[in-house]
Amino acid sequence: MATRTGNRSSNSNRSTSGGNRSRSSDRSAFNWGDSGALVGAAIAGAAIAVAANMGRKAVMQGLSASAGDWDEVLASEHDAALMIFDKLLATDDGQTFKRTMLLKKLTHALDKHAHEEEHVVYPALRDANDAADADLLEGEHGYVKTFLFDLNEMEKDVPEFASKVREFRALVQEHAKMEEEQVFPRLKRELSPEQNDRITSLVNKAGFMMA
Ligand SMILES: [Fe+2]
Ligand SMILES: [Fe+2]
Repeated sequence: MATRTGNRSSNSNRSTSGGNRSRSSDRSAFNWGDSGALVGAAIAGAAIAVAANMGRKAVMQGLSASAGDWDEVLASEHDAALMIFDKLLATDDGQTFKRTMLLKKLTHALDKHAHEEEHVVYPALRDANDAADADLLEGEHGYVKTFLFDLNEMEKDVPEFASKVREFRALVQEHAKMEEEQVFPRLKRELSPEQNDRITSLVNKAGFMMA
């Protein structure tokens, strides 16, 4: 858009100043000068935006990472997600904007969490000969997405909204309980300290990408 505006103004300069230079050489001289400056400004702006976003991501993932080992990071994210559920359940049918905002927050939190588990922890589980649990848990993530889809599509002022959220919360709570009480402790025991450190680092990297 900015480049196009620059081109347009350079064309009008050419037509008013007249001259007998060929149109093509004129166009190239002006356009490279204008678009070069504009591209430079755009790159500088993009660099600032990227740096700001990296800072935000670092803060966001830092909050999770400060929880410690990979299993503690994931458990703290379970707690954070359940807190968003509770805030959603504290709304009434008239608070549609708040419901929409909290649902967005929940979607982001659960997407990020699923990315960390599906790209790091569940593959490590399968490599540790626990494919059955990995497949079951990953299958449940599919239902998490289904609940999110249904709730995002649903009107926010209907009584069914809260009952759907309650049903969803129960699924997430059960899923998190199985991970925290059975699956994660077993995997952690099976891995060496170095392997656990590696999983922690990979979980943080995966979270950073999604933060
Ligand atoms: Fe999970
Ligand atoms: Fe989880």
